[in-house]
Amino acid sequence: MPLPTLLVVICSTRPGRVGRAIGDWFIEQAEAHGSFKVAVADLATINLPFLDEPNHPRMHNYTKDHTKQWSATVAAADAVVFVTPEYNFSAPATLINAVDFLYVEWSKLAVGWVSYGGASGGMRSVQHAKNVTSTVGMVSAGAAVALASAPPKVKDGVFANTEDNDKAAAGLLDELVTLSELLAPARKEALKELDES
Ligand SMILES: Cc1cc2nc3c(=O)[nH]c(=O)nc-3n(C[C@H](O)[C@H](O)[C@H](O)COP(=O)(O)O)c2cc1C
Repeated sequence: MPLPTLLVVICSTRPGRVGRAIGDWFIEQAEAHGSFKVAVADLATINLPFLDEPNHPRMHNYTKDHTKQWSATVAAADAVVFVTPEYNFSAPATLINAVDFLYVEWSKLAVGWVSYGGASGGMRSVQHAKNVTSTVGMVSAGAAVALASAPPKVKDGVFANTEDNDKAAAGLLDELVTLSELLAPARKEALKELDES
């Protein structure tokens, strides 16, 4: 049996961001966990514009190559993790925009959160983003990774992780295994809509 695919989405696109270093640490944890084949979507590289499709994504009548590629990437995932900063007590626009591009592709998809920021560890970002991800049918893990005071812990592009951080990542990955297995039949059914279009 091939391993299920975990898509890790790195949400910060800022020059000088710490998000890539934190994402790289989480990707290493996910690969070491061994339960998933890990795919990475770095929104800085994918460079999606602000939503530029004329039709509601529910129609999956996409007109742009970047949307078709993003659709295929997300549809291939069995679970997703957003690695997200907190901006102004909320989620970055890049994350919400990336979600808004699609609809059915997110359906019954297990979602986990790796957030970071100052004292809050990015938790307000996650709470706001969940409002959007649950609307499009993603199902959130309860376990989460919230990294407080993260920016000073990134030096030369490397995140100085602790044992507690690694344990939190393993807890999240364990739960994503369970959730994605439980959701698999419903996700398969939901994605049939894409084949029929
Ligand atoms: C526009 C902006 C808004 C921010 N707002 C918050 C905030 O509300 N809470 C917080 O903890 N940190 C906030 N920060 C600080 C970020 O946590 C910190 O800059 C972090 O490095 C951002 O992630 P990134 O470097 O991957 O983009 C903000 C940073 C920016 C650029």
